[in-house]
Amino acid sequence: MADFIVAIDGAAGSGKSTTARGVARRLNFFHLDTGAMYRAFTLKCLRTKKDEINQELVNKLIKKTRIVLKKEGDEYHTYLDEKNVSLEIRGPEVNKYVSQVSAIPEVREWMVHQQRAIAKNKNVVCEGRDIGTVVFPDAQVKIFMKADIKVRARRRKKELAEKNINVDLNDILKNLEFRDQFDSTRKHSPLRIAQDAIVIDTTNLTIEQEIDLVEKIVRARLKNL
Ligand code: DC
Repeated sequence: MADFIVAIDGAAGSGKSTTARGVARRLNFFHLDTGAMYRAFTLKCLRTKKDEINQELVNKLIKKTRIVLKKEGDEYHTYLDEKNVSLEIRGPEVNKYVSQVSAIPEVREWMVHQQRAIAKNKNVVCEGRDIGTVVFPDAQVKIFMKADIKVRARRRKKELAEKNINVDLNDILKNLEFRDQFDSTRKHSPLRIAQDAIVIDTTNLTIEQEIDLVEKIVRARLKNL
């Protein structure tokens, strides 16, 4: 069997990354974290010309940027122009600018093209904002995850602390509110629930429960193929 796509969409901190990672591990699927790709490109923009992130700069950079998601052991790493930037792309600078960069249509078109190429001939758990609606509208399984914003902020803080990145909870909350608003109202492929997606509210679920639930849904679908 090839090309089985599990699309997981949702806002930051909704549980989609942890769930996507866990489900991919259990099923031995490739974990395609599209947020990491947008983050890596944002980092490239910031390193090049922080004050002038616009269409012109982006068009120039797209032609000379290489983003690769590599599985090394049990972990995935993000490479920007052959350098491992997995940690840097989670920092506050990238958090601040990533919504702005990912709203630019040329960036999205380029990303979608790459994401489809990565998934070719693979079984994939793909997570992001537009996966079930734009990137893989024919995905065999579509999940949309949501959770209370305060719970999401606490999760993000814990996740960052585990990577030794310390950010104030209030700042995280503000950044989440800003990105929620920006990502859902942008003109080009905004965050929205695909018509045929299964919505999961993870506010009161543990990570284990989230992963179990999605794994069960995927296995049931695989059985019916
Ligand atoms: O999932 P994340 O928080 O790492 O995503 C970072 C940002 O990238 C998010 O604020 C919006 C953008 N993004 C997007 O526009 N489309 C995707 N498929 C994934 C992420």
